[in-house]
Parts: sequence; C-alpha cells; structure tokens
Amino acid sequence: MLAVAVLAAGKGTRMKSALPKVLQPLAGATLVERVLASARNLSPDRKLLIVGHQAERVEEQLSQLDGLEFVLQQPQNGTGHAVQQLLPALKDFNGELLVLNGDVPLLRAETIDQLVNTHRSSGADVTLLTARLDDPTGYGRVFADASGRVSGIIEHRDCSTEQQANNLTNAGIYCFNWTTLAAMLPKLSTDNDQGELYLTDTVAMLDTAMHVEVADPDEVNGINNRKQLAQCEAVLQERLREYWMNEGVTFTDPSSCTLSEHCSFGTDVVIEPQTHLRGRCTIGAGCRIGPGSLLENTTLGNQVSVLMSVVRDTQVGDDVAVGPYSHLRPGSDIGDNCRIGNFVEVKKSRLNSGSKVNHLSYIGDAQLGSGVNVGAGTITANYDGVNKHQTILGDGSKTGANSVLVAPVTIGSNVTIGAGSTITKNVPDNSLALGRAKQLIKENWS
Ligand code: UD1
Ligand code: CA
Repeated sequence: MLAVAVLAAGKGTRMKSALPKVLQPLAGATLVERVLASARNLSPDRKLLIVGHQAERVEEQLSQLDGLEFVLQQPQNGTGHAVQQLLPALKDFNGELLVLNGDVPLLRAETIDQLVNTHRSSGADVTLLTARLDDPTGYGRVFADASGRVSGIIEHRDCSTEQQANNLTNAGIYCFNWTTLAAMLPKLSTDNDQGELYLTDTVAMLDTAMHVEVADPDEVNGINNRKQLAQCEAVLQERLREYWMNEGVTFTDPSSCTLSEHCSFGTDVVIEPQTHLRGRCTIGAGCRIGPGSLLENTTLGNQVSVLMSVVRDTQVGDDVAVGPYSHLRPGSDIGDNCRIGNFVEVKKSRLNSGSKVNHLSYIGDAQLGSGVNVGAGTITANYDGVNKHQTILGDGSKTGANSVLVAPVTIGSNVTIGAGSTITKNVPDNSLALGRAKQLIKENWS
C-alpha cells in the first residue's frame, strides 16, 4: 500500500503574492499539479493534500482532480506539524507514505519511482531524495556516510558555518514507513530557529534513514521566491521545447519562445522567434507561427500561417493565413482557406470557407458564408450601447470599402454593398445596396 501526501499548506511568504504559493502557474500548470503529476506512475492507494493558507481556494482549484483527499492544517506550524495532521486520516493505514513538498515542481516521475524502489529494497525506515547543489543556500543539509546512510538533516538557518559548507541538500521528498513515522511524529519539538515542527527532524529519530542522490540537480529546485519561480519556468520551457523538437517541430530561435504543458503539434510546424503558446493549443501539420505571435486555447488546422498576431479561444481550419497584425478574439471560428489580414479584429464570429477579411476591419458577432469578401475598413456595428447584435452575410457577398453594417442585419447571398455605405436594413440576395450621401458637384465653385 502506498499513500502520497503533498505539503501545500504554507503561505509562501517569500513570494510576496496574494496567490497561495502552490497555485502559482508554471508553463500552464500550477506548482501543486506538477508535484502531484510526479507521482503519477506509482498509482498510489491514497492521495492526500495538506492545505491551510487559503485552503478553500486551493481546494476549489483542485476539486476536479480524481481521488484527492484534502487534509486541513490550521495554523501552519511547520512541515512536521503538517504531516502530524495525517494521523487521523491514516489511522488504519499500513504501508509507505511518500511525502512531497508542494513547491518542488520539476521532479521527473522516473526519479520518484527510483526513490520508492530503493526504499522498498533497502528496508530503511525512511529514504529521502538529495542533491549536491553548487549553491545550497536555504536548503536543509543532509549528513550522510559513504554507504548512503543518513544521520540527520539540519536546516540552513540552524547550521553552523562548518555545517553550511556541506552541499548535500534535502529535496523535501521522502518515502517513509508510515507506522514507524506515525510513532515519531508526536515527539517532534520546536527547538529550532523558526520555532516550528520540522519533518526533517524525524530522520535522525528513526533507526535507519537512507538517501538517493538525483543525477540532475535541477529536478529538486524548490520555489520560495520569484527568482526561483523564473528559474523553474526556464527549465520547464527548455524541456518542453526539447520534447517538441524531438517530435518534429522547428524553432528558429527556441529560447525566445514559450509553450504551455497542454500544447500539441503536428509534423513540420515552424515556430518563429518571439512566439508564445498558452493554455490548450492544438496545432496541425505544416503550420508556421510567428514571428511575434501569441496563441491561447486555440486550434489550428493544417498549413496555417499566423504572422505577428494574437489568437485566443479560436478555431481555425486548414490553409488559412492570419496576419500580419490580426487579433482573433474568443469564440471565433475560421473556416478552411480563409484570409484574415492586416489590422483586422474578429470576435465571436464564424467565417465559412474561402472568406476574406483583408484589411482594417472589425467583425464581431457575425456569421459569414463562404467566399465572402469583406472590403477594407468594413465594420460590423454590433453594439447598440446595451446589447450585442448579429450580422449575417450570405455566400459570395462583397462589402465595399468603409462599409458599416449596423446589427442586427442580414445581408443575403451574392450581394454587393457599395463603398462607404451604412447598412441598417436587411438586403435580399443578388442585389446591390448603397447607403451613402450622393456626391454633389458644383462646377466652377472656387
Ligand atoms: C524544506 C525543508 C528543507 C528542504 C526544502 C526543500 C523542512 C523543515 N525543511 O524547507 O530541508 O531543503 O524544503 O525545498 O521541512 N508547508 C506546509 N505547512 C507548514 C509549512 C510548510 O504545508 O506549516 C508546506 C509548504 O506549503 C511547502 C512545503 O511545505 O510546499 C515546504 O515548506 P517551506 O516553508 O517552503 O520549506 P523550506 O524552508 O523550503
Ligand atoms: Ca521550500
């Protein structure tokens, strides 16, 4: 039997944030979701999350996660106090308890597997993960012999200068035998610089403690402040880009681009410099994105190009060209072979195949048929000051430059709207509509 407990009750004082530390986002997932994911291979029998600071907010955000039990720690009196809160919940539990600090988001699932396997084969009371760090400042120091036996952990602030020179650090990841740990937990004391109950003190109290040193010290980066948050983001971005390059995506300037965890790409996608994909993005084969583009929660079909543009919560079909300087806002649905050009904003609108909005337009709350040609500067006036209204443009219609379509309005198929028209009434199929002042000429007037 295996239980996993994640320590997520702390405030994260050093972050200086209104957001609880464990909810800070990193490459599209929160810190705590990443920590939970690192134990995914083990299929634990119990999953417990210790919450405290802004507990409701943390619970609410994670309520969709399957089989997660929330355990309240109130007040937050240290990591040992946090684990003490598990005593009632795990009263009849017999097995291993894997404890994960909620602020260590870069752990690989394989590393956690290795820790648990080592623990099982050595028969120790606890096995913990360690790393040799070039700069161990702030981390607890682990005192161990050459055979891997640990005698104790001393927090950075409680170390003598001599002890601080030891760079073997505690990652905050432990596999305990639950029953032996449970017997020790009530004996913890607050005899330390912070006056808290430290989980790390149990290590010296247990008979046998072992450690496993990670090969890649980046994995155990803990996040206490914004600088460490940025460092972890950089490591995750590097991992994501490397993964997708191995899957056949080209980055012309990788380090200038960022991705989220929930992006996927077809083959032969090219990502040009200064391009960012956030949220859930699905990108088809042969797309070219950037330079200078931002996509969020967006699906692109195959062979789409997006140049210097912002695209959010939008669906795009195949063989579409977007940009330069287009803004596709939430709820847009762009059919195959469409063209969205320079300085065009589209919001909550459907464009059927082959329609073009090439220059300087606003298309909001509109339905365009196929093969529609929207002339330069056409505006759908969708808002009457209180409500939003729809504009419908039938197949094959064209609007002249600088037309205003005052919604609600329905324009039939194969209609031509004269340049400079303000259209306030419905227009039947196959007609020409003009709505502008007649040109007046006064000869020899000057
Ligand atoms: C802890 C370890 C340190 C280790 C480091 C690794 C202790 C005493 N020290 O230090 O040896 O090198 O992690 O990153 O354990 N938390 C609670 N309740 C509390 C206090 C903290 O749930 O009362 C949670 C926090 O939300 C956080 C985790 O425990 O996710 C670690 O707490 P933090 O205060 O960051 O510990 P460190 O000082 O980093
Ligand atoms: Ca920490």
